[in-house]
Amino acid sequence: MMTKTVAQLLKETKLQEVDIKGWVRTFRANRFIALNDGSTINNIQCVVDFENTDEGTLKRITTGAAVHIKGELIESQGKGQSVEIAVGSIEILGDSDPETYPIQPKKHSFEFLRENAHLRTRTSTFSAVMRLRSSLSFAIHKYFNENGFYYMHTPIITGSDAEGAGEMFRLTNLDAKTPPLNEDGEVNYKEDFFGKETNLTVSGQLEAETYAMSLGKVYTFGPTFRAENSNTSRHLSEFWMIEPEVAFMDLAGNMDLAEDFMKSVITYILENNAEDLEFLDQRLFDEEKVKPQAERSEMRLIEKLKFVTENNFKRVSYTEAIDILRNSKPNKKKKFNYIIEEWGADLQSEHERFLVEKHFKCPVILFDYPANIKAFYMRLNEDGKTVRAMDILFPGIGEIVGGSQREERLEVLKEKMAVLDIPEEELWWYLDLRKYGTAVHSGFGLGFERLVMFTTGMGNIRDVIPYPRTPQNAEF
Ligand code: 4AD
Ligand code: MG
Repeated sequence: MMTKTVAQLLKETKLQEVDIKGWVRTFRANRFIALNDGSTINNIQCVVDFENTDEGTLKRITTGAAVHIKGELIESQGKGQSVEIAVGSIEILGDSDPETYPIQPKKHSFEFLRENAHLRTRTSTFSAVMRLRSSLSFAIHKYFNENGFYYMHTPIITGSDAEGAGEMFRLTNLDAKTPPLNEDGEVNYKEDFFGKETNLTVSGQLEAETYAMSLGKVYTFGPTFRAENSNTSRHLSEFWMIEPEVAFMDLAGNMDLAEDFMKSVITYILENNAEDLEFLDQRLFDEEKVKPQAERSEMRLIEKLKFVTENNFKRVSYTEAIDILRNSKPNKKKKFNYIIEEWGADLQSEHERFLVEKHFKCPVILFDYPANIKAFYMRLNEDGKTVRAMDILFPGIGEIVGGSQREERLEVLKEKMAVLDIPEEELWWYLDLRKYGTAVHSGFGLGFERLVMFTTGMGNIRDVIPYPRTPQNAEF
């Protein structure tokens, strides 16, 4: 007999013998097991013939226990499901002590579940979130594969700071107490493992550019690391980023690609993860019911996802955005923490969210930012003060994508690096791209966890990655 999953059995109409393994979610009235094996948000009801099951075994059917059940799939006698399993035999594979098992069949706080992250996928919410995470990841690879992109594995250990923000985790195997020093008393990294200073990558972009300039269309999808001390619900120290990079594509093409890509992956989960999404939609709705009206979102989760797939993203220049913000109510009434006074101000998440949630009420692509608040590699515009940058802002999230057209002119790039004190020797290979067959090219980075937050309606980024790394926290 082929072993079937709970997901498969729940769809069966043919009554049959079954052989199934899973974990007990609940055991009610010494008779009804709600069994889950991770294949679906739904449990299958297994009805135990308690008169013919020994007392010892019955006692061991507890929440969290792993069991092996053989029996028959029959039409359900009760409400709430169309089929159930009449248990013929049950074997306890692994006991679970009901006194100490953390995941009791009741509502737990997300904080508590974060402390028990190794067990939290045994709850409906977290199993749904992680199934969606997996599905989104597949949809991303599928999209690029179907659109002629090559998947490139960029290095995790690098010697460069792609974003120039200096938020890197140093990687060394020098002795922490007595590192080798050079004459002026500084640590001598020549004696370090790689013979130079190295760090964990903050972005695979610079290396991806090298491959775009030969393979045409590439993307990376890997972990990135940032030592920024931001303890917010949208920042992780280790997060996954998707970075496509395309030769001969300008900023307008980059926006088109990003929009089509985001819509495509969201459409994929709407079509393939309906049950998990419906559960999360209801969860968010229930959570928001208790909030004051003004804090509730205007749309339910699934509605919001459909809205993104069905509407154009609004494209707005930074300059227009600053005008809107300067004249906005919260700015005039000094409700923002950072008041927007002048062109050139960096946008904070409160401003981004105002634009998306209150003003435009749809995803927004902001472009042409002031050069001095963006990274060194962005293409300078003819005005000499803005760069061809774009950020995509999503409701409830703020910035979800950051990208740009890249500076392809050798001299302009060198000048920019000189101003920012970026040594040419460090990025000689990056400059080579501008010497040999340079061309317009563009790309962007999508923060994967922010996408998972948006699509699952989870409010804290720590709840959409299996084991979050944040300042002062690297448990598990
Ligand atoms: O805007 P960022 O810093 O852009 C880059 O790294 C470029 N090299 C991308 C490119 O053009 N290839 O980061 C891109 C995205 C952000 O929009 C955000 O969604 C996410 O990565 N992100 C983070 N997500 C979680 N935790 C953090 N600390 C993040 N920092 C950035
Ligand atoms: Mg950014």
